[in-house]
Amino acid sequence: MKILVIGSGAREHAIAKALDKTADVYTYMGKKNPGLAKISKKCCVGDESNFDNIIKFAKSNDIKMAFIGPEAPLEKGIVDTLADVGICSVGPTRKAAQIETNKAFMRKLFEDYNIGGSVKYGTFYDLKEACDFIDTFDEAVVVKPIGLTGGKGVKIVGDQLADNDEAKKYVKEIFETKMGGFEGVVIEELLVGEEYTIQAFTDGCTLIPMPAAQDHPHAFEGNTGPITGGMGSYSDKNHLLPFLSKEDYDKSVQIMKDTIDAIRKEAEPYKGILYGQFMLTKDGPKVIEYNARFGDPESMNVLSIFNYDLAKVSKQIVEGKLDQVSFKNQASVCKYVVPENYPNTKAADTIIKVDEDKINDLGAQIYYAAVYQDDNDDIRLTSSRAIGVLAVDDTIEAAEKTCEKAISYIEGEVYHRSDVATTKLLNEKIEHMKEVKS
Ligand code: GLY
Repeated sequence: MKILVIGSGAREHAIAKALDKTADVYTYMGKKNPGLAKISKKCCVGDESNFDNIIKFAKSNDIKMAFIGPEAPLEKGIVDTLADVGICSVGPTRKAAQIETNKAFMRKLFEDYNIGGSVKYGTFYDLKEACDFIDTFDEAVVVKPIGLTGGKGVKIVGDQLADNDEAKKYVKEIFETKMGGFEGVVIEELLVGEEYTIQAFTDGCTLIPMPAAQDHPHAFEGNTGPITGGMGSYSDKNHLLPFLSKEDYDKSVQIMKDTIDAIRKEAEPYKGILYGQFMLTKDGPKVIEYNARFGDPESMNVLSIFNYDLAKVSKQIVEGKLDQVSFKNQASVCKYVVPENYPNTKAADTIIKVDEDKINDLGAQIYYAAVYQDDNDDIRLTSSRAIGVLAVDDTIEAAEKTCEKAISYIEGEVYHRSDVATTKLLNEKIEHMKEVKS
């Protein structure tokens, strides 16, 4: 079976690596990712929003199925466009992808279908009404542009926004700049607790969840500094998290199943990967947001312990016949190596040296992200996350140690968070959750 992977980051590297076990992987990417290029039967470097080019590449290689990595082409309707020329996709149609690309759609769906785990919120297309809502809302708020903003649009009072006056100024900016493509905003209550991710395979009717994972969005040690795409994540041997019980995991999965049923009724069957970003609060799991694709870095956690045939599962998803999958009972830790000053980096283009042999000898794995291979085969940094380093072991503690050793074999103008998945940080999370629930 031939499968075309679209996208150029570590998430797509992890997807391609899993597919490569049983399928012929072709890739279409914005820049030459060395990991993807090595796996691919054939790769094409081109603009990921140029669907004509993607179709040309797929047709010239007689490809009938695609796996869409990032959200941007989903928003532009790549799945619908490929379907028009007979190529089916692991990824939702434009309408179904609104669960990520339109936050007003997502919150209304929860309201209309009475789905659990929702929050107090308001959607506004009028600036004054939005500001009045903030004035009368007697709790801290979260301000969200309605459309996609590359993870940079959500701002929280008490974090990026000092108070409600700053929140109102930010709302004005969203309206004036049409941030995320909408002259509107969603304002929500601030959730307190521990965040976690559950990803799932779905064919639009059946939903099969993957192990839970927890990402670390803050740039610096101790969960401080600016919010990033994610500095590292872990998953545990029992597929839960040290602070997440089976009962709360099951409740979260039920919310995801109800969401898929609602999307099918409201829009179209959602076929692909659903990523649920949850907050475990004193009242149980609440949905922060959904993504219409695998997480990055969380894809690396789950795909490294995936114990089934991803190509077969992909076929079942597009045919609406999703059946079963399985994951190894092992823990995983992924840490991102990022350019100095990230996330405020300017494209550095400096060389990063990776001793893949030494890393492989440790049993660790690397996934190339926002780097590119130049004409001399040197790997160069850009302005974003460079390499995901992943280790799998019987415990989070052992995997974390291997991950740290592996990172010592990467040289360049880079840094990483050494505290991700350490016992100290995990204990802090357990204690935090106890406080929240008390
Ligand atoms: N880890 C955050 C994301 O994938 O969006």
